[in-house]
Parts: sequence; C-alpha cells; structure tokens
Amino acid sequence: MTRKVIIDCDMGTDDAVALCMALFDERLDILALTATEGCVTADQATRNLQAIVGMLDPDRHPRLGAATSTENAPAVNTTYLYGEDGLGNTGFEVSELQHMMPADKLIVDCIRANPGDVTVVCLGPYTNLARAFRRDPYVTEQVDRIVMMGGSIRAGGNITQAAEFNCYFDPQSAQEVFCSRTTKTLVPLDVTREVKFGLDLIDKLPERYCRAGEFLRQILPYAFRAYRQKLGQEDINLNDAVGILAMLEPELFEFEPMAGQVETEGQLTRGVTVFDRRMAPEWRNNMEVATSLKHEQAEAAIVKSLCLAGNAT
Ligand code: RIB
Ligand code: CA
Repeated sequence: MTRKVIIDCDMGTDDAVALCMALFDERLDILALTATEGCVTADQATRNLQAIVGMLDPDRHPRLGAATSTENAPAVNTTYLYGEDGLGNTGFEVSELQHMMPADKLIVDCIRANPGDVTVVCLGPYTNLARAFRRDPYVTEQVDRIVMMGGSIRAGGNITQAAEFNCYFDPQSAQEVFCSRTTKTLVPLDVTREVKFGLDLIDKLPERYCRAGEFLRQILPYAFRAYRQKLGQEDINLNDAVGILAMLEPELFEFEPMAGQVETEGQLTRGVTVFDRRMAPEWRNNMEVATSLKHEQAEAAIVKSLCLAGNAT
C-alpha cells in the first residue's frame, strides 16, 4: 500500500534533492507539494517548485501550493550556500506561473479529504503547517504524522550559533507545531550532519541523458564549491534528503521520545529547540526525535533513491 504524503519545502538545493527522491518512489502517493518561504523568498520558492516538477515530469503530477510571505521573518542570507535562486544559480525558467492555491489551504484540503491517512513532511520552516492548523484546528486530529527536518539537540546551530535554520526562520510556527496534539517525528541537525557526500557523489548520480540526472548535475556542483569556499568543508550535507529518508526508511535511524519546545523570543537563542531531558522532566513527551542513524547505509540509500529517479526519467 502506498503512503499518502504532502511535502512542504523551502526549495533550496537539499529540498530539491529530497523531491527527486520522493517523486519517483513507488511507496509514496504524493498528494501535494507546497512551497514555503525560507532559504529563498516565497515567490522564488514557488517558482522553484513549479520548475522542478515541470522538469522532472513525474508520471503523476501532485497538486502544487504557493508560498506566501512569512510574518516577522528575519533578514537572513542563505544565498552563499545554494545561490541566489536556491538552486545553484542555474536559472531554471518557469514557462508560465500557474495559478496555485495558497499552500496552507491546500494542506487543509488534502488532509480533510483523506482523514487519518496523510503524512506531512516539512523540509522548510513550519509556517504553512502552523497556518493550516490555525485555519482549521480540526485538521490536527486528522493528520496521521508529521515528519520535520529541523532543530538540534546538541549540535548547536547552522544559521546562528544556537539555532537550526527551519526553527530560526519562523520560531512561532515551529513552537505551535511542536505543541500541537499530533504525532511527530523530528529529524535534527545532529543526525542530518552525520550524512556526508564527497565529490564522488557526482559520479554516482544518474547520467545526464535522463531528466533527474540532468537536473541534479546542474544544481549540485554549486553546493560543493560553496561548502568548500564558504565553510571549508570538502563534503556536503543534504539535510532534507535525510529528512525524507527518515520517513522512507526509519529502520536506518534510532528514535527517542522527547519533550521539545522552541524558543520564540531570545536575543541570542531565537529558534533554539529545547528538550526537557532532566531526571524528573516536567514536560510531557510530544515527539519522537531521531538521535542516531547508520550513516553509511543512509548515504547509500539516498544514492539508490536518486538512481531510481534516474531510471524513471
Ligand atoms: O537547517 C537545514 C534546513 O534549512 C534545510 O531544510 C535547508 O533546506 C534549510 O531549509
Ligand atoms: Ca529546506
């Protein structure tokens, strides 16, 4: 049986890799892909989403939801890692921007139409999901599971010293989703950083003559250059690819029940994920958190999934 999913993403390079993995996976029935503001603007995220689906042209085109601006978003510069357009300055064109439903409305519609059956995977800030819950609080009872890439247990931050990007960008929404009465899995930086790819990843990708191969070979070289020049790292991380993998192959991960919340206001700690790990905790567990993974098998599984995308295109 296939699993019904909605994937919500802010459309940077690692989101795009995650979509390549998901769009051709026979275990998934992708009801909708929704764009959110984050590592690129709302408009750019929507354009990237439409461009990717057009370019990869999967057998079944999911419904697409448009991003709209996030209230109180901080000024962040993420272009140094993924380029001005989030996809390595490849300049993919969208022939004509379709009229799309706002992402949060589409999320509500899909969950309402499939009560109890839908997994929502969040690969960007959790703005759309929080808005969907505000729009229709009953949806929290009808969503099957939420899988979120984001936060950090002990790994510190990647956008500030303390915070992971997806939680930092819209901490209010992150806190609302964390505190919602839903079944949640968090895939934090602590585990996504364990999965690393060297330049030899390029040789393992599908060939250029297939659509997925052409696409990946256009976007990934920029990320390798940026990681080396800006972070001094030869290997790249693909955080969102690991987020998708946690849904597809949870047996590669270890999970622990935890009680987590998000700091919404701190001067230095905006967006920090805080877990009650005291001997006598006062918060109730509200999610399972990935605490470790078999990184070599995870790397191989991601490559395998990208190769399958190549076979299908
Ligand atoms: O912190 C990593 C996350 O921030 C990833 O989802 C990346 O795409 C950005 O959204
Ligand atoms: Ca992302």
